[in-house]
Amino acid sequence: MKRILITGALGQLGSELAAELRSRYGVSNVVLSDIRDDVNRQLVEEGPFELLDCRDFEAAGAVIKRHRIDAVYHLAAMLSAAAERDPLRAWDINMNGLLAVLEAARAYSCALFTPSSIGCFGPSTPKRYTPQDTLQRPTSIYGVTKTAGELLCDYYHHAFDVDTRGIRFPGIISSLTPPGGGTTDYAVEIYYAAASSGHYECPLAGDTYLDMMYMPDAVRAAAEIMEADPARLRHRNAFNVTAMSFSPEEQAAYIRKYVPDFEITYRIDPVRQAIANSWPDCMEDYAARVEWDWEPEYDLDMMTQDMLDAVRRHPQGGRNV
Ligand code: SER
Repeated sequence: MKRILITGALGQLGSELAAELRSRYGVSNVVLSDIRDDVNRQLVEEGPFELLDCRDFEAAGAVIKRHRIDAVYHLAAMLSAAAERDPLRAWDINMNGLLAVLEAARAYSCALFTPSSIGCFGPSTPKRYTPQDTLQRPTSIYGVTKTAGELLCDYYHHAFDVDTRGIRFPGIISSLTPPGGGTTDYAVEIYYAAASSGHYECPLAGDTYLDMMYMPDAVRAAAEIMEADPARLRHRNAFNVTAMSFSPEEQAAYIRKYVPDFEITYRIDPVRQAIANSWPDCMEDYAARVEWDWEPEYDLDMMTQDMLDAVRRHPQGGRNV
């Protein structure tokens, strides 16, 4: 039986990955941790929880030892737009956090999942059907930490034999816990606006294409790559995965199928627009499909129906706000 630790477990991805992993491995076998415990109280109280600043190697190691952890999902990180507002803090959290957790994984022989992102690419990367192995010169501090993180995880695998694995996530859309500080957050906010006021002011230009994925696919991808047969993995820490690529204009058009009077207007945030312009329009994810049978289920229409249902049921953002 696997015993798992999730860092950053109360965030957008962690809160839903926790439910997925607890249903696969049992509630008591999945330990949640975060730097705070005053949000998502239901999750904090439902099973084992540890307050943990993952930059603290000793503390991370103690939690791993106490709970006899054999796989860590390291999700604690700052997202792209927030990172641009405080680059040194972003470096500290994203890199020193990862390094401490890698060292703890090495010391206690744990497997380690680390999310990378479309943010690891830059303006000189091919924009359409971005290949798995390609030029990476990210221009955001978030991207710099993601690319460095991919390389560091590869290094810990080949130098120290740590079973590191990871995925380059696109923007993740969900209704349970809101994202915080990402360039792709607009694609979540738009559904809340559609269901409440019927109008959304978008911070990105209408023709900005980005890869996206609905949360049920994202958590399944994170679980499946850690269960994949290592003999089949040629890549380890940086699998492109995507489910759909769309622009705000297209997303609004799909929303209008269900909310006919929905209006979108644009007030461009230059920081987020510059970040989005430096990222791919759409990635190809052939390596993930071949090496661990990755396949998304949700497209834009299915996701739109599901999100609108969810936000109408929980206009305040699910149970976790
Ligand atoms: N969703 C992330 C962000 O916008 C990208 O990985 O920062």
